[in-house]
Amino acid sequence: MRGLQTNRHSCFHHLLLLFLILLRSGRCFAIVCYHCDSIALPECSQTLGEVGVLPYKECPTQLTCAMSIVDSITYRGCGAETPITGATYSKTCSSNLCNAGVYPPGRLKCHHCAGQECVAAPAAKPKPCRYHLEEDQCYTDVISSLEAYRGCASEQNHTLSTAAKLCDINGCNDEQGAWTQVCATCDSAIGRGCKIDLFQVNTGRCNVSLYEECQQDVLLGEQEDKYCFSFRRLSRVVRGCSTKMQTDLESYVDKLEKCNTSDHCNAGCITQQKCFTCNSVDQELCRTNITAIANSTCSSAEASSCFSCEYSNWSIQRGCGAPPANPQITKCYECDEGAGCNSKDFTRCYQCSTDQAGAGCANWESPGEIYIEECAEPAAPCVVVSYNNGTTARGCQKSDFSCASANVASCLPCEGSFCNKGSFPEERLWCHQCRGVQDCEEISRGQTAMPCPLRANEPEDQELACLEYFDVNSKEIVRGCRSDPELYYECLLRSNHLGSCRTCHSQACNNSPGRELRAGYKLEAKALSLLQGKSSAISKYSNVGHGIWLLLSASYLST
Ligand SMILES: *[C@@H]1O[C@H](CO)[C@@H](O)[C@H](O)[C@H]1NC(C)=O
Ligand SMILES: *[C@@H]1O[C@H](CO)[C@@H](O)[C@H](O)[C@H]1NC(C)=O
Ligand SMILES: *[C@@H]1O[C@H](CO)[C@@H](O)[C@H](O)[C@H]1NC(C)=O
Ligand SMILES: *[C@@H]1O[C@H](CO)[C@@H](O)[C@H](O)[C@H]1NC(C)=O
Ligand SMILES: *[C@@H]1O[C@H](CO)[C@@H](O)[C@H](O)[C@H]1NC(C)=O
Ligand SMILES: *[C@@H]1O[C@H](CO)[C@@H](O)[C@H](O)[C@H]1NC(C)=O
Ligand SMILES: *[C@@H]1O[C@H](CO)[C@@H](O)[C@H](O)[C@H]1NC(C)=O
Repeated sequence: MRGLQTNRHSCFHHLLLLFLILLRSGRCFAIVCYHCDSIALPECSQTLGEVGVLPYKECPTQLTCAMSIVDSITYRGCGAETPITGATYSKTCSSNLCNAGVYPPGRLKCHHCAGQECVAAPAAKPKPCRYHLEEDQCYTDVISSLEAYRGCASEQNHTLSTAAKLCDINGCNDEQGAWTQVCATCDSAIGRGCKIDLFQVNTGRCNVSLYEECQQDVLLGEQEDKYCFSFRRLSRVVRGCSTKMQTDLESYVDKLEKCNTSDHCNAGCITQQKCFTCNSVDQELCRTNITAIANSTCSSAEASSCFSCEYSNWSIQRGCGAPPANPQITKCYECDEGAGCNSKDFTRCYQCSTDQAGAGCANWESPGEIYIEECAEPAAPCVVVSYNNGTTARGCQKSDFSCASANVASCLPCEGSFCNKGSFPEERLWCHQCRGVQDCEEISRGQTAMPCPLRANEPEDQELACLEYFDVNSKEIVRGCRSDPELYYECLLRSNHLGSCRTCHSQACNNSPGRELRAGYKLEAKALSLLQGKSSAISKYSNVGHGIWLLLSASYLST
């Protein structure tokens, strides 16, 4: 009876049906119920309660109608005839045709259609899904601008393509399936007006007006790849449709500004560039301290980049747009990242390596083999680095170099030309590292002192030390670092006796005069010769003999 009260229209129809049925059958205490299942008749589950869609039946002996969901199938019928075993939902009611309408009331409703007319946004009401599942979804699957499908995922009478869009709210698969996108297209390399509209330069937000239009068909589900774009790099600005992109832009896809919100959404003006505009001939600060000068908005709407150039006479020029062409210019850069990007200076750094220049590159004592490097990258920092293998090097910091590399023992980058000077690394122990009679015999001004190499397995707590000794085999003075295990071993073995391998712990402390280091050996040699006085005298004579023989052979050869 509730149905009759709430819906006057269907009430009238129900009464009419009832009347006809009663007229035909002539019985009194029977009931009329809708009778169907959604296997044979999809409408049995998909009805919204429309009259005249579902078949009905007069129940001979019963006084109730029923509805049930068993295995996701919807059943309607006379009370006792309707299956309820294993039903997820079931309901009985006791008035004629009361088993009508959406059941259960909350089941998911989706738009259903297939084919060409399915591409446009659907006008009809969404219908319940044919099968009842707790977890179901609506889908929209647009195959082309002439073919689309909408329905419930559980129906499985259409295989979803990868472009299908799924959603879970009643009637949610109602989006338009295909549309045309119109974008502005222009290229500053081909014509003016693609960057900023000349008549709106000062209005802040503006759109360019000198462009053609491009169009592309967009299908629901493929919006990711279809968009209007604008691209800006140095002096070039390009706008267009993503499907008609110039091939030279394909490598910049990540840097494109993309939009799909409206037609011509990619027509927004670029922000006007600001650059430092100066010349060191007129304004010395242009070279020496650019931070003391203010950058200014470029007067030309076509200037989307800034430049900085150096002339062969070292004068500097900075300005808006692409660098000027002048044979006196030795180097330039062009930039577009942010206001005043051309503030960066050309840097020069000291360049050397202890592999070539020797200790001078590390201790900054002697000037040989130290060069000036012109950094390829503007404003590159200078750096001085000490590698684990003991080599110290200076130069411009390259973009692929990292102070955090595994083979770096210590590293000091600095800003500004020629800043990478001075001895380095100061915190590491420095020792004289040399071998041989000439330069190693007497140490003056510490020109051979260098940082000790860092060993891969050097114990953290081991106290660093310098060493020095007189090598009895080669008769040479040797100086170095105790952290070099081979050298330390030689020091213990080849110095005459224990204690003549000297170690010390302060910077460049292994500077004992050569004669002191030999002294022990000399003393021993003397003692030895005293012990073997005679043989020593013989050997002396034999040495003289050798000398005479050599003299003779030399004069023989020269005749
Ligand atoms: C799938 O079945 C539903 C319900 O029977 C129907 O409404 C829909 O049009 C069918 N879809 C396709 C693609 O055949
Ligand atoms: C620029 O174009 C966009 C998209 O067409 C529009 O929304 C906006 O109002 C325009 N702005 C101006 C200043 O004309
Ligand atoms: C615009 O593109 C985004 C993804 O790039 C997409 O999520 C959105 O739905 C698109 N909007 C329109 C109106 O196409
Ligand atoms: C550069 O100019 C700024 C601002 O006038 C000033 O603060 C700074 O000390 C100057 N730097 C040098 C190195 O002269
Ligand atoms: C350096 O060369 C440029 C271009 O040739 C010139 O304009 C400038 O006056 C020169 N600067 C000096 C300091 O001579
Ligand atoms: C250029 O000027 C703008 C303000 O006009 C300022 O925000 C920006 O930091 C300046 N750039 C440099 C590199 O000084
Ligand atoms: C030490 O290592 C650096 C960096 O790997 C290398 O350039 C240099 O040649 C090495 N020096 C020696 C002496 O092996």
